[in-house]
Amino acid sequence: MYSFIPPLLGLFLATMACVARADEADGAALYAPCAACHGAAAEGNVALQAPRLNHLRPVYILTQLDKFQRGLRGGDAASVAAQQMAESSALLPPEERLPELAFYISELTSPASSSTLQGGDPVAGGRTFMRLCGACHGADAGGNVALNAPRLAGADDWYLLAQLHAFREGQRGRHREDRTGRQMRNMAAMLADKQAMQDVIAYIRSQQE
Ligand code: HEC
Ligand code: HEC
Repeated sequence: MYSFIPPLLGLFLATMACVARADEADGAALYAPCAACHGAAAEGNVALQAPRLNHLRPVYILTQLDKFQRGLRGGDAASVAAQQMAESSALLPPEERLPELAFYISELTSPASSSTLQGGDPVAGGRTFMRLCGACHGADAGGNVALNAPRLAGADDWYLLAQLHAFREGQRGRHREDRTGRQMRNMAAMLADKQAMQDVIAYIRSQQE
C-alpha cells in the first residue's frame, strides 16, 4: 500500500524536488562572498578567525547577522574579528533573502574541526557546564531555540575561547539593546579563569557527534 503514490501527490513531490534544487543553487550564490572567509562548506578558517557556521541553526544565524548589521555586535569596542564581520555585512543579500542564506549554511556539512587548544579537562568542564551553562545551552551543548541559546557542540575550540574572552572583556554583549548578548556576558563572567574556560570548552568538544 505504501508503494502507491496518488498522481497529484506525485506531481507535488516532483515540484518540491525542483524547488529544493533551485533553492540550493540560489543559496550557493548568496553564500559565495562569505566563502572567502568562512570556507566553501562554512567549515571555518582559523587563520582569518572566521568561525565554522554549519553547526548553527538558521534562526541563530539570522539573529547574529541582524546584530552585525545594526551594530549590536561588532560595533565600538568590539574585537577586530567582530568588526571585520560587521563590515562584511555589506556582502549580505537583501533582507527577504537572508532566511534562504541562513538555511543554506545550516545544511552544509564538513568533518569535525580539529583541536587547537590543549590542557582542558572535560570532566571538570562538564561539572562547570552543568552548573552554569546547561540550563540554557542544553546538557549536551545542543542549544535551545526558545532561549536563543546557540548550539555550541561542533563549534571551533579557538572560536569558543575567543567568544568567552570577548564576553568577559565586554567586547561582545555590550550594546544596550543586545539583551541576549548581555545575558551571556554575565554568564561568561562567572567562569573563574582561563583554565575554567578551557575545561568547559573541552567538555563542549566531547559532545560533538
Ligand atoms: C572578511 C572575512 C569575513 C567575511 C567575508 C564574512 N565573515 Fe562572517 N565572520 C568573520 C569573522 C572574523 C567572524 C567572527 C566574529 C567574532 O569573533 O565575533 C564572523 C562571524 C560570523 C557569524 C557569527 C557566528 C557565531 O557563531 O556567532 C556569522 C553568522 C557569519 N559570520 C556569517 C557570515 C555570512 C553569512 C557572510 C557572507 C555574507 C560572512 N559571514 C562573511 C569573517 C567574515
Ligand atoms: C541564561 C542563558 C545562558 C546561560 C546560562 C549561558 N549562556 Fe551562553 N549564550 C546564551 C545566549 C542567549 C547566547 C547568544 C548571545 C547572542 O545572541 O549574542 C549565548 C552565546 C554563547 C556563546 C557564543 C556562541 C557563538 O556561536 O558565538 C558561547 C561560547 C557561550 N554562550 C558559552 C556559554 C558557556 C560556556 C556558559 C556557561 C558558563 C553559558 N554560555 C551560559 C545564553 C546563555
